[in-house]
Amino acid sequence: MTAGNAVQTSSLGEQILGRINALAAISEEAGKLTRVYLSKELREAAELILGWMREAGMNAHLDAIGNVCGRYEGEQAGAPCLMLGSHYDTVRDAGKWDGPLGVITAIACVADLNRHGKRLPFAIEVVGFADEEGVRFASTLLGSRAVAGTFDEGVLNTRDREGVSMRDALITFGLDPDHVGAAARARRELLAYLELHIEQGPVLEAQDLPVGVVSAIAGATRLAARLTGMAGHAGTVPMALRRDALTGAAECIGAIEEFCRTDANGLVGTVGYIHATPGATNVIPGEVSFTIDVRAPTDMHRKRAVGEIVRRIEAIAGRRQLVLQIDVTHENRTAPCAPWLKEQIAQAIDAQGFSVFELPSGAGHDGMAMIDVADVGMIFVRCRGGISHHPAEHVELADVDAGARVLLRVVENFRPRECHLSPQVTG
Ligand code: GLV
Ligand code: MN
Ligand code: MN
Repeated sequence: MTAGNAVQTSSLGEQILGRINALAAISEEAGKLTRVYLSKELREAAELILGWMREAGMNAHLDAIGNVCGRYEGEQAGAPCLMLGSHYDTVRDAGKWDGPLGVITAIACVADLNRHGKRLPFAIEVVGFADEEGVRFASTLLGSRAVAGTFDEGVLNTRDREGVSMRDALITFGLDPDHVGAAARARRELLAYLELHIEQGPVLEAQDLPVGVVSAIAGATRLAARLTGMAGHAGTVPMALRRDALTGAAECIGAIEEFCRTDANGLVGTVGYIHATPGATNVIPGEVSFTIDVRAPTDMHRKRAVGEIVRRIEAIAGRRQLVLQIDVTHENRTAPCAPWLKEQIAQAIDAQGFSVFELPSGAGHDGMAMIDVADVGMIFVRCRGGISHHPAEHVELADVDAGARVLLRVVENFRPRECHLSPQVTG
């Protein structure tokens, strides 16, 4: 690499970092980063990203589900596109890199092409997906599912914890819930979907590598459980006569942890939310809701584990005379990355002077939904200590640069798969 290029790429990294910080300043909660789907702050963030897309030479718009979409035409207008993206919603009290890094780096790559007046034989589209985290409504990957054409309209009637339906939230955001289908894209319009994302785990750091090639995104199942017992007076009901929903939930949570902890093959289970009612110091809890998130390296392993977890919870509920309702709110199978895209990513990593290292993703990504409409490839960037979904999430500037250089190289050298090479018409 020439010294001139080095200066160029370093400023690319600094620009990305500046924008990461600008986006992180848009939050629902003072002193924390929280930006959930269809919030006022998500809308504010969308406007900022749309401005960056236009500045990079793209036509940009908000689509029917709230995704920010930018298009940089190729040598010929209307050509199929290489789609780049990630998400711009966050978990509660989030780190600033999970999602935005992929969106901002993709825009920076397009800006670089635009600055050099460079057009490619295909278009580039950048998408910032509006809901990947699934924090607000029970379902997740809502933005990418809408683009992939697999959005479940039934989700429109689900309500957030304040009782606001997704349908109403879309209207408040300025979108029409009856036209979500308009966000869907056809397979023939997309040459591939590529995402750059922080690893969210410690493997690249242990390997002393700034970037890696993702082999597959692990599947996930999310469940919502509700235990109903009998509320009562904390001073008068003897312990043996209680049907306490909260102590029942505590036993269930302990059983889930025990079951996953004793699995030697990478099973993980998390209860990340719990709510007890009526919620008073001197009242025995009558009803408790909690969520369960289960992931494993293979779909078969995860499905078996979910079955066993449900059986154990049923047994606990039965023994404690609690009524159990348990529903699957989200299910995604494992998404393998396409070998031809892995190869092009590996070549770009090698060309940048880094060792090529392949690793699976334990975290979920928009590619899990996009695989229904395009082949998927992912580049991981090292993050400090593997910490994510936490404000201490951090990426070194040099690694931001490395990721951006790799993504730019993949884009500039991108070769569509054989089956895409015949002349195509979009529409
Ligand atoms: C998304 O970050 C997930 O893996 O839950
Ligand atoms: Mn993410
Ligand atoms: Mn996340």
